[in-house]
Amino acid sequence: MSTAILGLQWGDEGKGKITHLLAKEADMVVRFNGGPNAGHTVIDRGVKFGTHLIPAGAFYPGTLSVLSSGMVINFAVLREEWALLSEHLGWQPQLLIAENAHIIMPYHRQLEELEGSGKHFGTTRRGIAPTYSDKTAKLGIRVGDLLYPDVALQRLELKLSFLKRDWPDAPEIQNLDARSLLEEQLTTAEPLLPFIGDATEAIGLAMAAGKNVMFEGAQGALLDVDHGSYPFVTSSSTTFAGLGNSIGIPNPQVDRRLGVFKAYMTRVGAGPFPTIVSGALEERLRTTGGEFGVTTGRPRECGWLDLVALRYAASLNGCSGLAITKLDVLSGFDEIKVCQSYRLNGQSTDKFPLSAEVLERCEPEYETVAGWSEKISQIRDEAELPKSLMAFIELIESVVKVPIEVISVGPEPEATMMRV
Ligand code: GDP
Ligand code: IMO
Ligand code: MG
Repeated sequence: MSTAILGLQWGDEGKGKITHLLAKEADMVVRFNGGPNAGHTVIDRGVKFGTHLIPAGAFYPGTLSVLSSGMVINFAVLREEWALLSEHLGWQPQLLIAENAHIIMPYHRQLEELEGSGKHFGTTRRGIAPTYSDKTAKLGIRVGDLLYPDVALQRLELKLSFLKRDWPDAPEIQNLDARSLLEEQLTTAEPLLPFIGDATEAIGLAMAAGKNVMFEGAQGALLDVDHGSYPFVTSSSTTFAGLGNSIGIPNPQVDRRLGVFKAYMTRVGAGPFPTIVSGALEERLRTTGGEFGVTTGRPRECGWLDLVALRYAASLNGCSGLAITKLDVLSGFDEIKVCQSYRLNGQSTDKFPLSAEVLERCEPEYETVAGWSEKISQIRDEAELPKSLMAFIELIESVVKVPIEVISVGPEPEATMMRV
């Protein structure tokens, strides 16, 4: 049995909570994309954590946490996160770090600032885009290179020679030294070096043996580098379509593809957002929903649920089921809006456009449905949920044509109703 947990919006849908909950039964939990741009909130035995690199399997003894190829890894962040988790758990979680994942070097973050792309695209400024750029330009440093310092040094020298040529007036670049950069990486990564290995082989063996393997997606479908609202996207494949390539397994047999989405929408950073709201409504959603980034602390923009985008995201991932989160945040609204279609160039369309510039021109066409006044965060039995909430759920299912299998009414693991 394998399960993939996939974000269906612009990230922060509650993937961390759902993965942590389901990972209890897992033998292996694999992150397959992104890096420390992710911030996944987990409440483990009453303690709140924001994880950035380590998948939620780490909270359970005997579950292997895999950071697979497709990811970009900052060893300073990883080491700190591993130490924090070890302290909380009382044991050291077992990791497997793919030798062919790429390393975020200190100069990648510097480059994001020098190029101005961090500011322009509203990125998390974690060096994500420069690291993936180096990967495709064949100028990256890979995790496995740390086991062969002579190879790492050679690669670093080549990369630095290009950098110094391209940035003659930037002292922070001119002062870089390959040997000291390598030594710094080796010292930081030292306790994690035994975890470096062949993730593709390990995942393949676990799946072939019928183990319970989970995949923890990062970001969301609308941030996918190919299929998101380009160019206001991240730099990796965030959907199930990219998962096979990221882990190096053709046509992975993942029976359950659970798409996670909020009962409304949020977005952090730049880029179009058709159903965005402003003023008191924005303030209410942001405050009640605690909509501030886990990684950067930035306030998230808020808006109504967009079913055009949701249907697109669910089909991109081939979702077998959906998990809706944060329904409790909508308690107390007399009416709730859902976007059923867009008005584009004077016509109504239910197609999600593939470019940010076209999405920017889309005006939402709303259906208004009844809200509910009851507080629901203590409800644990679906039969006790308000009728209008159930009607809201049925409306979503009828449009997306995928069953809602998980209903989340609070950040704690207990505040979840499993329908299958
Ligand atoms: P992720 O990146 O998809 O893992 O999501 P984040 O952790 O960045 O953001 C989701 C936020 O919503 C976190 O603060 C969670 O603790 C919280 N959360 C998750 N599910 C629920 C829910 O059903 N209700 C409420 N109120 N908060 C939730
Ligand atoms: P999780 O896994 C929300 C956004 C950034 C920016 C864009 C590009 O917690 O859902 P990047 O640093 O990746 O180059 O930034 O993508 N972004 C996220 N937004 N949740 C995330 O991860 C995100 N990871 C990146 O805000 O708009
Ligand atoms: Mg997040």
